[in-house]
Amino acid sequence: MTARPYVIDQMISAKAIAARIEELTEEIKKEFPAEERLVVVGLLRGSFVFIADLVRELKDRDVEVDFLEASSYGNAMESSREVRILKDLRGEIEGRNVLVVEDIVDTGHTLNHVMHFLESRHPKRIRTIALLDKPSRREVDFKADYTGFAIPDEFVVGYGIDYAQCNRNLPYIGKVRFTD
Ligand code: IMP
Ligand code: MG
Repeated sequence: MTARPYVIDQMISAKAIAARIEELTEEIKKEFPAEERLVVVGLLRGSFVFIADLVRELKDRDVEVDFLEASSYGNAMESSREVRILKDLRGEIEGRNVLVVEDIVDTGHTLNHVMHFLESRHPKRIRTIALLDKPSRREVDFKADYTGFAIPDEFVVGYGIDYAQCNRNLPYIGKVRFTD
């Protein structure tokens, strides 16, 4: 737990997130053939709420769900530039359609590394979706194929995203404001 006191100001409502996910799934459905199975890969842990809502919007599709865990911030607010795979997929992705689901693209190191890792297994088609994007923070040239919302350089929580493992269960996205 953190010692610094803070409050959370709502930034993106649950309703706005739901509406955006509906729009994004329409786009995704155009990209992936309806008759082919889609493997939806969530990056643990931050994407767990997003992936749950996303796959339910794809209810008329043949979808498999898998998870991958990459090393992250730990309990800090700074990105670790060296990314490691902590938990691999359970299933095979060679020759298959894959959608990688991430909570936030910040410096870009995590998704960039994960995509190289997964592409080496030769999926048929692989795309990325990130709920949030902080373009001003980018350190490597990476852009998700689908983005929910571009946001300024603020530290955010909620809808699966944590600060020191807290606030993942908020139904909306809020920004952390320190009060000390
Ligand atoms: P990147 O490798 O710098 O792009 O970092 C991506 C990861 O950093 C995300 O998957 C998040 O876990 C974490 N992250 C980036 N920004 C925030 C934030 O504002 N709040 C909480 N976690 C964040
Ligand atoms: Mg993460």
